Amino acid sequence: MVGRVNSTVKGASLRLGVIGTGYLGAVHAACMADLGHEVIGLDTDQERVNSLNRGVAPIYEPGLDDLLKKTLATGRLRFTSDVVETAKGADIHFICVGTPQKEGSNAADLTYVWSAVEHLSPHLSDGALVVGKSTVPVGTAEEVAKRVAQLSPPGTNVEVAWNPEFLREGFAIADTVSPDRLVIGVRSTEAEKRLREVYRVILEKGTPMVVTDFATAELVKVAANAFLATKISFINAMAEICEVTGANVTELANAIGQDPRIGSRFLRAGIGFGGGCLPKDIRAFMARAEELGLAESLAFLTEVDAINQRRRDTATKYVTDMLENRVEGSVVAVLGAAFKPDSDDVRDSPALFVADKLRARGATVRVHDPRAQHNAKRNYPQLEYPPSVEETVVGADIVLHMTEWAEYRNLNPTEISKLVRHKRIFDGRNELDLKQWQSAGWATKSLGRPQ
Ligand code: UDX
Repeated sequence: MVGRVNSTVKGASLRLGVIGTGYLGAVHAACMADLGHEVIGLDTDQERVNSLNRGVAPIYEPGLDDLLKKTLATGRLRFTSDVVETAKGADIHFICVGTPQKEGSNAADLTYVWSAVEHLSPHLSDGALVVGKSTVPVGTAEEVAKRVAQLSPPGTNVEVAWNPEFLREGFAIADTVSPDRLVIGVRSTEAEKRLREVYRVILEKGTPMVVTDFATAELVKVAANAFLATKISFINAMAEICEVTGANVTELANAIGQDPRIGSRFLRAGIGFGGGCLPKDIRAFMARAEELGLAESLAFLTEVDAINQRRRDTATKYVTDMLENRVEGSVVAVLGAAFKPDSDDVRDSPALFVADKLRARGATVRVHDPRAQHNAKRNYPQLEYPPSVEETVVGADIVLHMTEWAEYRNLNPTEISKLVRHKRIFDGRNELDLKQWQSAGWATKSLGRPQ
C-alpha cells in the first residue's frame, strides 16, 4: 500500500497527482489536500501554476481561493509545471484535463488527455495508478490503459481506473467532498481498494460508491448530463407550448415536479443550458454513438440540442418585438454574462449569444455581470462592459435579465425606472417577480409565462 501516515490529518495520507488545474483539477487538488492527502497539481501553464501556488484560483468558484490558501499552508498541496516531479511525487494520478468540443465537429477533442498520458507515463513509478476523471467518449479508458502500458517504464506495474466527476460550477467544492455518489471503473480489487482509501473520509459519511467496469463508468457521466439536458429541453419545449396556449410554464413545472417520479430540479424554463459541459457532452455522446453505428439510439439528443438553440432565437425575437423591430440604434442592457450564476464561466453562454445577436443587428449592447465580465470581454470585445448595473441600464431601451444572479432578483424596479429610457424588461430566466415590475410601469416579457 502506498499510503503514509500524517499525524495532522484525518487519516492515512496518500500521495496524489492532479494533471490539469482548470475547473475540475484545481478543485479536486484542493479538496483532496483538505481530505488529508499530499497533493501535487500539474499544469503546463506556468502563470496558472504560480497563481495557484499563491492561493489564487484561475477561475471564480465560491470558497476555492480560501480552500487553496488553507491547504497550501498545511504544506500538503503544491503546484508545478514539471511532469517528472509530478510523476515521482505521487502514486495515484488523476487526469483532470479538459475535453472540449472539436473544432468543426460534434466530437470531443481528446488532445489534452493524450498529451497528459504521453507526458506522464514514461516517468511513472512502479505501482502507480492513473485515474481518469475527464469526461470522455466511451471506450477511451481502455485506450488509455493500453497507451499507459506501452509508455510506462519497462518492468513497472501500472494500472488505470476511471472515476468520473459530477461537480457543478458554483457548488464544486461541496460536490467534491459531499457527492451524491462516487463512481469508479476498475479492473482489479487493488485499484478499488486504493480509490476507497483516497475517498475514505467521504465514504465514511455514508456516500454510496458504484464500482463498475470502464465503459459503464465513462457512460455514467455522459448519460447523466444527457438526462439533465433532456430535462431542461423538455421543460423548454413545454414553454413553447405555453407561449402559444397562454399557459404558465413555471406553474406547470411546479405541478409536474411535485410528482416524485419526475422531481422539480432541472425544470426551470428559460434561455436554456450553456457552459463547458452539457452542450458539448451531448454532442460528443451523439458523435460517439454514430461511430458505434448507434446514431438512432441518441437521435433524440439532436432534438434536445435544437430546442436549446431555439430558445436563444426566441429570446432574440421577443426582444426585437418589444423594441417594436427597432433594434438598430437601440440601447440594450444585458444583466448577466455567465452561463449560470455563481460562476465566471462564459463558455457557450446563452446570455452572450443573444447579446451578440442584438449587437449584430445594430443595437448598442451593454453587459453587466458580477463575476464574468472579464471573461465575457475577452470573448466578445465588441460589447460594452460598464462597471455597475446602474451604468449598464442608464438610457436603455430594454433590460434583459439573462443570468439569475441573486443581486438581479433584488433590483428595485422603481429605482431602475429613473435610469432607463424605456421601461421594458425581458426575463430570460423566469426568476423575476414580473408583477412587481409591471406595478412600477414596466412592459414585461418572459419565456413560457403569460404577460
Ligand atoms: C453540469 C452538471 O450538472 C454536472 O453534474 C457536470 O459535472 C458538469 O455539467 P454545470 O455545467 O456546472 O454542471 O451546470 P448546471 O448547474 O448543470 O447547469 C447547466 C446549464 O443548465 C446552465 O446554463 C443552467 O443555467 C441551465 N439550467 C439548469 C436551466 O436552464 N434550467 C434548469 O432547470 C437547470
